[in-house]
Amino acid sequence: MELTLINKNDIDFVVEALSDPEFYEMARGPEVKLVTHDTIEQEINSVPGAWWIMWEDGKRIGWVRFTPKNVWVAEFGQVIVDPEYRRKGIGSDVLRLILNSVGVVFKIIISTTTSKNVAAINHLTKMGFEPVEIRPITDSVKRVTFQKRRSQ
Ligand SMILES: CC(C)(COP(=O)(O)OP(=O)(O)OC[C@H]1O[C@@H](n2cnc3c(N)ncnc32)[C@H](O)[C@@H]1OP(=O)(O)O)[C@@H](O)C(=O)NCCC(=O)NCCS
Repeated sequence: MELTLINKNDIDFVVEALSDPEFYEMARGPEVKLVTHDTIEQEINSVPGAWWIMWEDGKRIGWVRFTPKNVWVAEFGQVIVDPEYRRKGIGSDVLRLILNSVGVVFKIIISTTTSKNVAAINHLTKMGFEPVEIRPITDSVKRVTFQKRRSQ
């Protein structure tokens, strides 16, 4: 798996992936908004350098967003692997690649998911993240913030 910083040639891939309801809900949550080439382009341009595209054998298979919050803290989020490529170690490889490249300067990496998202919870736990905040979203679903401290 390789990562490249997103560019305008990748926008149609993101728009097409988000037209799949499963991808959309995982990436955006249940509230559906119109996604077009222009809205994705605006979003990408609003946080330059944050979105990365995953590639396998010359094919785009997902994306991830990595956003600095301040000089110490960055957020790893919106990691989405094409369903056909899941459970093959790609999510773990992405996190390792990010932490060892653009993420290397940050002392704390945070990531947020919901209590329903067993795959994301297991993925983050396996990669050494710990839950640091749990807030209710509804009666049965909670938002869970994980963090990983870089040991130095
Ligand atoms: C979460 C996600 C990125 C993981 O990607 P992946 O390529 O499948 O991850 P890996 O193959 O590296 O798996 C790492 C660990 O995650 C956990 N995991 C992954 N998928 C799982 C599943 N369906 N159920 C339970 N645990 C799961 C396992 O602990 C796994 O380790 P193991 O295979 O040794 O048991 C992927 O499932 C995905 O794209 N999900 C939809 C989008 C999403 O929810 N993103 C997170 C947003 S907060």
